[in-house]
Amino acid sequence: MDDEKAQVSPRNTLNALTAKEWIQETISVWRQKGLGANHPDTYFERLHPAPYSYTDVARLVRFFSKPGDTVLDPFLGIGSTLKAAATEGRNGIGIELSEEFARLSTERLEKEIDEDLLGSTNQTVLQGDSRNILQTLDENSVDLIVTSPPYWNILHKKDHKAKQERESKGLATRYSQDDSLDLGNIDDYEAFLDALMSIIRDCQRVLKHKKHAAIVVSDFREGPRLRMFHSDIARLMEDEAWILKGITILHQTHKRIFPYGYPTSYVPNIHHQYILILQNNKKLAENVES
Ligand SMILES: C[S@@+](CC[C@H](N)C(=O)[O-])C[C@H]1O[C@@H](n2cnc3c(N)ncnc32)[C@H](O)[C@@H]1O
Repeated sequence: MDDEKAQVSPRNTLNALTAKEWIQETISVWRQKGLGANHPDTYFERLHPAPYSYTDVARLVRFFSKPGDTVLDPFLGIGSTLKAAATEGRNGIGIELSEEFARLSTERLEKEIDEDLLGSTNQTVLQGDSRNILQTLDENSVDLIVTSPPYWNILHKKDHKAKQERESKGLATRYSQDDSLDLGNIDDYEAFLDALMSIIRDCQRVLKHKKHAAIVVSDFREGPRLRMFHSDIARLMEDEAWILKGITILHQTHKRIFPYGYPTSYVPNIHHQYILILQNNKKLAENVES
């Protein structure tokens, strides 16, 4: 059995992991793994107000795809998904609305990834609104989606502590100033969810049947209440014929603790994200459409 655990099963159609590696990754709590503040490769990450760590994305890419597969991110940001795709030997397509972040993503790949490794896969950065660009991609051309959308308009919040810190360092605090195509600038929550779902619908078309989408999100506060953003997305996606396969908690151990609400009211320091794992079920989707 030990020998078996160290080998990739010939019946494994999902990834290139051994039994031992596979089982470890199914534990439903992960500790977020950044590079550490002083690592030289954090330069590009820092230029974006809300990047995720490419090392966490690499774990998802290793689990939910095989070498040579194609990974799509419709909200590319500073290019973390394409960096993970390149380091794991997968091809990547990333769509980013902001001209500046699209340009910086390309620059980041060139600077942070060894030339030979980068040249051994195809990494494509497409600049524009995902609602238009996804239409140009072929149906069933993608094996995995990994993404993190804007969390509604929370970057606009005045009391956003991270925002105050970034402002003091002269770093960008929003994805765009007033671009109406930027989902992070939509003020009405229901209208924001509608826009997000139209992008997810196009993703369902380009993603192959039974392949997965890993969506990294956090819940957030709106005044005194908590918005269960992760639950809203999961519910809407299930309505559109995705199968919710699991939710992994990503524990963000490096985040600073702020005395929100003290000493009069309970206000959580939200130090975790959710990785929603959904499987594309095209058969059910056909019934939803008809
Ligand atoms: C949470 S960030 C993604 C960060 C990314 N995971 C990274 O590690 O850099 C969301 C991104 O979606 C982009 N965005 C917003 N609306 C968009 C749209 N309509 N089409 C494409 N990108 C959009 C924003 O400019 C922002 O960079």
